[in-house]
Amino acid sequence: MRPFVAGNWKMNNGPIRGKAFFEEIKKFPLERAEVVIFPPFITIPYVKKLAEEKGISLGAQNAYWRKEGAFTGEISLEMLIEAGVDYVLVGHSERRNIFGESDEEINLKLKAVLRAGLRPVLCVGENLAEREEGRTREKVRFQLDADLSGIVPTDVIIAYEPIWAIGTGKTATPEQAEEVHAFIKEYLGNVRVIYGGSVKPENAHSLMAQPHVDGVLVGGASLKPASFYDIILAGIKAFEEKG
Ligand code: PGA
Repeated sequence: MRPFVAGNWKMNNGPIRGKAFFEEIKKFPLERAEVVIFPPFITIPYVKKLAEEKGISLGAQNAYWRKEGAFTGEISLEMLIEAGVDYVLVGHSERRNIFGESDEEINLKLKAVLRAGLRPVLCVGENLAEREEGRTREKVRFQLDADLSGIVPTDVIIAYEPIWAIGTGKTATPEQAEEVHAFIKEYLGNVRVIYGGSVKPENAHSLMAQPHVDGVLVGGASLKPASFYDIILAGIKAFEEKG
């Protein structure tokens, strides 16, 4: 099994910087990892060919669940397929908290992504108050139940992203991550679970060394090829050691 290392560029790296990233990452050997980049929609067509040449898959950070029609500002799954996307991020905490996405909508999106034959990465995780009150498992279980209602999760990748660790420089300790990952796998059965929240070259190895951590979802540190590659290397090393 190879480590799954994904970069969520969020609202960064438009066509010009996005292309420069792919031009630069060319020089690094990536074969021993499964690498996915989630660029902004507008960047996707500009980097598709370069990504393909390098064996990097592309994902969308969001998608609408309806097929087509009068939905100003939205992007359909069919459009994403035409653009060569393989993965779709669903329910990122920024979508939930800034854009008010509900678990019901996330459930509709997940169903639509699977119907379209694309691979969803579902983000779940507790906020600081929930963690401090000892309600982490309860929150994660609630999100899994609601978001995956009516879905067999075999083809869903789960990203455990504690909200208090996203973009804050605070990472969950490897033990904290491992505990929740083990819980998710026990709860859902055989699914892949990756960790996200301030993953950096310095902490990537100890996180991916945990038995139930199958990879990482990286925000800030995925914007530059050098730091992203260091994270990939850390994952390759950790997976070799895990056997
Ligand atoms: P971060 O973001 O690595 O910048 O904390 C992770 C994410 O939101 O997916």
